[in-house]
Amino acid sequence: MRPLSGGLKAHLTIKNESAMLDQTHFDTLPSRPGVGYKSQHYSDIMANPAPVGWLEIHAENYMGAGGRPIAQLKHLAERFPISVHGVGLSIGGEGSLDADHLARLKHLVGWLKPASFSEHLAWSTHDSHFFNDLLPLPYADATLNRVAAHISQVQDVLGRQMLLENPSSYLAFAESTMSETDFLRELVKRTGCGLLLDVNNVSISATNLQTSPQDYIDDFPLDAVGEIHLGGHDEEEDETGAPLLIDSHGKPVVDPVWSLLDYTLSRSGPKPLLVEWDNDVPDWPVLAAEATRADGALAAVTA
Ligand SMILES: [Fe+2]
Repeated sequence: MRPLSGGLKAHLTIKNESAMLDQTHFDTLPSRPGVGYKSQHYSDIMANPAPVGWLEIHAENYMGAGGRPIAQLKHLAERFPISVHGVGLSIGGEGSLDADHLARLKHLVGWLKPASFSEHLAWSTHDSHFFNDLLPLPYADATLNRVAAHISQVQDVLGRQMLLENPSSYLAFAESTMSETDFLRELVKRTGCGLLLDVNNVSISATNLQTSPQDYIDDFPLDAVGEIHLGGHDEEEDETGAPLLIDSHGKPVVDPVWSLLDYTLSRSGPKPLLVEWDNDVPDWPVLAAEATRADGALAAVTA
């Protein structure tokens, strides 16, 4: 199994359909802050990325792209470890994985050779219907078998380990027969996949389902975690007036999520930390300030 932390740097020659590139790439994500890459930040990142040590891209933004976006991505990949994060595979979906989507993903991962590839434990397609949201699924034997088969298929096609991300939940399924943490632990055991722990999602689910986020972290298989996500969420109320958190990635990370990160790192030790900000994306200094705060959280457990 691939190591999931560190900063090993290697040289290789990449064969692309269109060109032969001599490029440096990074095999692993470092236990440093990273940010979700947005093209409007390209110049800022190239000029002064501190304290950001790696970048995450959404796979779907580069699967059909050419020209300037790909050229910029190649420049970034020469300087930074890159994490490819997919949102469109619908790994929790009932049907077969979309072979065309998987082939496009294989092409991207093949030439970019990212330090990490991750996807969500969620579904977004059913038959020919596509949903914008990543929807949760019940935790039972049938879904476990299906998701394990999908993960194994992805890892076989891509020829590498993937990380699976815990979802944000808004309701609990009556059909569930096991906890989310047991479900994830069993997937790791069966497939050899790693996990992406999104502490914002943990906080959202715990608030919405009225459970303890610390208990969730205590029971999470932290040894399998190759990356931690942080992000902002919206705070609303349900019809009874109870707090309802929505995973929006459009605001700063809130203090309870920073505290949950500290709690997690105190148990897991340093991990690669990613600040996600996908909507109402701020200017670079605002995002860099979030990364600086993440750097402080890492410093507290590496001192
Ligand atoms: Fe996330």
